[in-house]
Amino acid sequence: MKYKVVLVPGDGIGPEVAAAACDILKAANAPIEWVQALAGVAALEAGEKELLPASTIAAIREHRVALKGPCTTPVGGGFSSVNVAMRKTLDLYGAVRPVRSLAGVKTRFENVDLVVVRENTEGLYAGIENEITQGVVTSVKVATRQACLRIADFAFRYAVHRNRKKVSVFHKANIMKLSDGMFIRCAREVHDAKYQQIVYEELIIDAACMRLVQDPTRFDVLLMENLYGDVISDLCAGLVGGLGVVPGANLGENCAIFEAVHGSAPDIAGKGIANPLAITMSAVMMLNYIAEMHGDAAVAATATRIRGAYDRALQEGCRTRDLGGELSTRQFADAVIARLG
Ligand code: NAI
Repeated sequence: MKYKVVLVPGDGIGPEVAAAACDILKAANAPIEWVQALAGVAALEAGEKELLPASTIAAIREHRVALKGPCTTPVGGGFSSVNVAMRKTLDLYGAVRPVRSLAGVKTRFENVDLVVVRENTEGLYAGIENEITQGVVTSVKVATRQACLRIADFAFRYAVHRNRKKVSVFHKANIMKLSDGMFIRCAREVHDAKYQQIVYEELIIDAACMRLVQDPTRFDVLLMENLYGDVISDLCAGLVGGLGVVPGANLGENCAIFEAVHGSAPDIAGKGIANPLAITMSAVMMLNYIAEMHGDAAVAATATRIRGAYDRALQEGCRTRDLGGELSTRQFADAVIARLG
């Protein structure tokens, strides 16, 4: 029995790192059958009219799980972000980005183990911008009570399920009293009603950033709206080695897309030097998701094997250039495959 998963290689380094991750999954005998789909500049280059073809959305709706490489959104030219559009169209309202220290990746901190939970459908990413008169533009931040309650419940449920102890909400409700005010009120309401076993705190985001870079080990699950989640995810990646080592999942009620936090990295695309670890880690999250969805312990075991293999590879000094090593994308993937056991 094979699970059909949509593979969207994406742009820039996307196809390189996606190919490496697929090779690792194949070598581990993960029971996955890939359904190829296009998005981003790759879709335009293949003759599609849109960055996000309807056929790609239909494939993800049908198969319910996708592994995705990063997609470039051309600046200007009237294109809206393919990533934002994908998450909104499929209502993938919860982004989960686990950030953990890795043995063999030396950084300023040890024992970082936190998870960024980001609301994926609203905030300033609603994309409502107007030029109200020449030289004056407005950008509308959208917050609905329904979406705030939903993401809060998602974060607390995640915390309980993963045996996490604390949820910290980052906000700027001192300035954005209505929008961020509602976000924290909803989080508080959900916590008090259903999740009192989880420690709850609220932090104004500027001070929270200072605390994060002073001592990230005091944090556990972080909950925030869309833009803050985007920025804080990259900040947290910097605490554990950079964008090459942080995976992610975009989850909704009906489907899920797994992708690294990083973008298409045009500065290194085509050189074969990108770190394939973040998308491989995302693929491991995907296998665990499939395992839970289908109650398939063998798939969970495969995920654990792959995770063990890349942890060992890093511990034994196998590293791509972003981590101070010399391995190419391909060589790192081969090093992981050699340690699958
Ligand atoms: P980026 O994440 O692509 O790159 C930032 C820096 O990190 C670059 O120096 C890059 O070389 C490095 N980097 C990123 N991933 C790496 C990896 N796996 N291995 C080694 N080094 C890595 O961010 P940037 O430059 O702001 O965005 C480039 C494009 O990506 C833009 O078009 C943006 O819209 C898109 N993007 C797409 C995302 C997605 O599809 N989920 C997420 C973020 C950005």
